[in-house]
Amino acid sequence: MTIRKIGVLGAGAMGGGIAHLAAAKGFEVVLCDVEQRFVEGGINRIAAFMDKSIEKQKMTVAEKEVALKRISITTRMEDFASVDMVIEAIFEDIEVKKSAFEKLDKICSPETIFGSNTSSMSITALAAATSRPDKVVGLHFFNPPLIMRLVEVIRGYYTSDETLKLASEAAQMMGKTPVVVKKDTPGFIVNRVMMPQFLEAIRIVEEGIATPEDVDTAVKLGLNYPMGPFELMDYTGVDIAVHVADYFFSESKDTKWNAPQTVKALIRAGRLGKKTGAGWYEHKKKGE
Ligand code: 3HC
Repeated sequence: MTIRKIGVLGAGAMGGGIAHLAAAKGFEVVLCDVEQRFVEGGINRIAAFMDKSIEKQKMTVAEKEVALKRISITTRMEDFASVDMVIEAIFEDIEVKKSAFEKLDKICSPETIFGSNTSSMSITALAAATSRPDKVVGLHFFNPPLIMRLVEVIRGYYTSDETLKLASEAAQMMGKTPVVVKKDTPGFIVNRVMMPQFLEAIRIVEEGIATPEDVDTAVKLGLNYPMGPFELMDYTGVDIAVHVADYFFSESKDTKWNAPQTVKALIRAGRLGKKTGAGWYEHKKKGE
């Protein structure tokens, strides 16, 4: 089996980015979300990102046109009937994801691989919602998917060797380096390493040791990271970071994962990062 046609479920930052990447690398893509305005928003963001790639001379106008033609948009999951692989990138709620997988299980061919872009949740739990647990695998891309070079390929309890191989090959065909996560554990590798850094950075600020700006400068210059932890939380979503920490806490009951009050306060105030115009920092909204 070769993966040629990919169905991406969820047209947000990650789903849209994955659809963009797959189309740019020659896959046929069906991009689905629950409402027309979400899929249209997704395709508009993809086109805008492609324009930036053209500005940076990473893509030509002709390549943009060809890549966009490879993406069809829909609000009907039934349009995934002929895809070889699904990549689910919807809201991080296990019950919502499970019900999507249950529905897709009835729509897609028995051969179709189901990948989930979950950043931390159990692949085995998602697989249990289907009649094909051997064909369910974690496929965790990083934001922005076009640029970040890694894909974590996560083995669920029943994931077959063949599925891991096909998922890793698909990641390679998208120009990524796949790293296999051998056990289905919360946060896999990267989020398990990144989350303590986020939480410690917040605690450093809460203890009055340094400002968010100085923590970011220190991490960028001292560790050579492209962004400091506060910039990165704003970039990927402050709510997403807390969601992952809460999931770690719910799985382990270890208070080291308890999100500090200052970050909870940001979320209550609607400061979710770049997407809402403010997070740890103030950001310009698009068009301002
Ligand atoms: N098209 C093609 N290539 C592009 C591009 C575009 N639109 N925009 C940037 N690039 C390329 C650049 O050409 C450059 O590649 P090169 O070195 O080969 O020339 C590279 O991307 C970096 O670009 P720049 O130096 O111009 O810097 P930017 O400001 O554009 O980079 C960034 C932005 C890539 C987001 C960078 O700041 C970065 O790497 N930040 C950290 C991102 C990160 O850590 N993401 C992971 C988050 S965790 C996650 O996703 C997990 C989830 O579960 C929460």
